[in-house]
Amino acid sequence: MRLFEPLRLGPLTLPNRVVMAPLTRCRAKQPGNVPWGLNATYYAQRAGAGLLVSEATQVCPEGQGYLWTPGMHSAEQGAGWRLVTDAVHAAGGHIHAQLWHVGRISHRSLQPGGAAPVSASDLRASKGTCFALDTQGKPARVECDQPRALTEAEIPGVIDQYGKAAQIAKDAGFDGVQVHGANGYLPDQFMSSVVNRRTDAWGGDLVKRARFLLECMRACVKVWGADRVGVRLSPGSGNDGDTVDIQWREQHLEVARQLQHAGVAYVDLVNYQWAYGRPGFDDAFLRDYRSVYRGALFASAGLTREHAERLLQDGLCDACCFGRAFIANPDLPERFRQGQALAKGDEATYYGGAEKGLTDYPRADGSPA
Ligand SMILES: Cc1cc2nc3c(=O)[nH]c(=O)nc-3n(C[C@H](O)[C@H](O)[C@H](O)COP(=O)(O)O)c2cc1C
Repeated sequence: MRLFEPLRLGPLTLPNRVVMAPLTRCRAKQPGNVPWGLNATYYAQRAGAGLLVSEATQVCPEGQGYLWTPGMHSAEQGAGWRLVTDAVHAAGGHIHAQLWHVGRISHRSLQPGGAAPVSASDLRASKGTCFALDTQGKPARVECDQPRALTEAEIPGVIDQYGKAAQIAKDAGFDGVQVHGANGYLPDQFMSSVVNRRTDAWGGDLVKRARFLLECMRACVKVWGADRVGVRLSPGSGNDGDTVDIQWREQHLEVARQLQHAGVAYVDLVNYQWAYGRPGFDDAFLRDYRSVYRGALFASAGLTREHAERLLQDGLCDACCFGRAFIANPDLPERFRQGQALAKGDEATYYGGAEKGLTDYPRADGSPA
């Protein structure tokens, strides 16, 4: 199976092409959104993946849109992540940190001083929700608050926060970083012609809309070198309930050209069509993408072992990411190798809580992970 062929990713040699997708689990230690031993155990249990990508981790307090997500902006958080990277390395794995700024997918109760969330423009997410305390003080999916547009003077400061987070991740022992440019979060808000209504140097044409993402990438490359930096994107998926950008193909192929130029290690393309039948892209787009961006290409969302194998056989990608399957199957690569049945995760324990639903899923033979 191609899934079990090694893959060179910059200086790393991944032992297989089964990547653990980033998965927000809302279990950082409080106060301070600090990763701790529980998170270290969870990731180490899954170290059989060719590469682990951490749950999204906010680069600054304003970048948070969900309760109890870990950050990458304080010394304490860096020390917490060191527990995670040490545990993963001791188990023989590799791990990248996913760097996140939610932009408008947030709520004032999660923002410093109860301020409005920031975005490319002052357009509220029409359908997207964030995860915050509701009016009764209970954790719940709540509507996103009205954002305010970042001023031109503020934008370099936000990009700088990606660079600082990249440095904290490096000091904490990660093997690289992945910029979260997918799923309607801040870099995606800038890329979208629907959400980005700016008329300055950060909005307007394709190149200007791509600039924020590319500058964030550049800030990470400065710290790590291009061969340890990747990005996650979700072409054609719409932007949290907004209509799909009619220019999404051209937009993403323009970004691909620039990522090729920057020489970044990999691009992970998330296709919500495969996972949920929502708008996404087709195989022809993957082919077009590959003709422009020649680094490693990952494919994500809704993949089965068979579908992943077909994509690899057809040369449409170099590695495949699995999200929900890794929640309930800590030994997922081994189960794929042996053709074993997969366990189904309990959705009630996806976000928040403690060990239950996080570290208590057994291996295929019933032994603890
Ligand atoms: C509980 C949960 C948390 C997620 N958190 C993140 C995240 O932090 N970053 C991200 O890029 N995608 C996140 N996703 C999306 C997954 O990485 C993945 O793309 C999605 O689940 C579809 O792939 P799958 O069918 O293999 O699960 C999350 C999905 C789930 C179910």
